[in-house]
Amino acid sequence: MAEAVRALGYVSLQSSVIDEWTAFATEGLGLMASETRVDGGLSFRLDEWAARLMVRPGATDVVDAVGWQVRDALALEDVEAHLTASGATVTRVGAEGAHARFVEDLIACEDPAGNRFEIFHSPLIVHDPLSVAPTSGFVTGPQGLGHVVLPAGNMPETFDFYRRVLGFAHRDSMLVSPPGVPPYRMRFLSCNRRHHSLALTEAETPTRLRHLMLNVGSVSDVGVGFERCQSKGVNLKTRIGQHSNDEMISFYLTSPGGFEFEYATGGLEIDDASWTTRELREFRLWGYEPLG
Ligand SMILES: [Fe+2]
Repeated sequence: MAEAVRALGYVSLQSSVIDEWTAFATEGLGLMASETRVDGGLSFRLDEWAARLMVRPGATDVVDAVGWQVRDALALEDVEAHLTASGATVTRVGAEGAHARFVEDLIACEDPAGNRFEIFHSPLIVHDPLSVAPTSGFVTGPQGLGHVVLPAGNMPETFDFYRRVLGFAHRDSMLVSPPGVPPYRMRFLSCNRRHHSLALTEAETPTRLRHLMLNVGSVSDVGVGFERCQSKGVNLKTRIGQHSNDEMISFYLTSPGGFEFEYATGGLEIDDASWTTRELREFRLWGYEPLG
């Protein structure tokens, strides 16, 4: 096993409606706008990292890359060698690409489902005062940015890749049976104490990002966030509910261009020394009535 991935670091998106993103991310999600590039690309902060969410102008609304953090430069070399040995095609992104992601160095690759991801070390840390809407702030640190849910039509190969090549731990699986569509499987994995940093789903999605979960520090900030999104005209997808697997209390909303976000608090922290995997049939304990 290579030196394992430590945390979800950043997400980069391209959007056909870039002009709508600053208002959505700051007034809806409560993030801090940090930089506008000459090409019109935007970046947003939610902790001491210079950028955690990046959006650039594009013809379509699709995820560019999910960034996974490793410990240091030697760990990056180790993961690169392990990816190459597994048969994956790895691209050295170079200084310009690293600058665009606010990190010292990174490599780019694709998982077996075609999801583009990057592995990086040394994110740029800034000390300007942080202004975000949640009074409890965002929960990041060793648990990383949050979690992403990515499509994996070829679930067995993709699930294997994250476990065997990148060293993720399997936490839970779920058979989801929504009304009117065939049941599909989800697999939940992590690389730190967060219950899941990555979920894979057999359900496809046009943005190639089923959702990005941002973790606020209190139930109060989930409730206030819901009302803030409502008052700012953000497209709310569900009411507040609680998940059966990670026990997070959250709601779902949709960004300009159709990316889904989960605004959540209170997830389980897992110790792999004692954890055993589980199979679930219900995604919720309560709530999540659809809206809109
Ligand atoms: Fe989620």
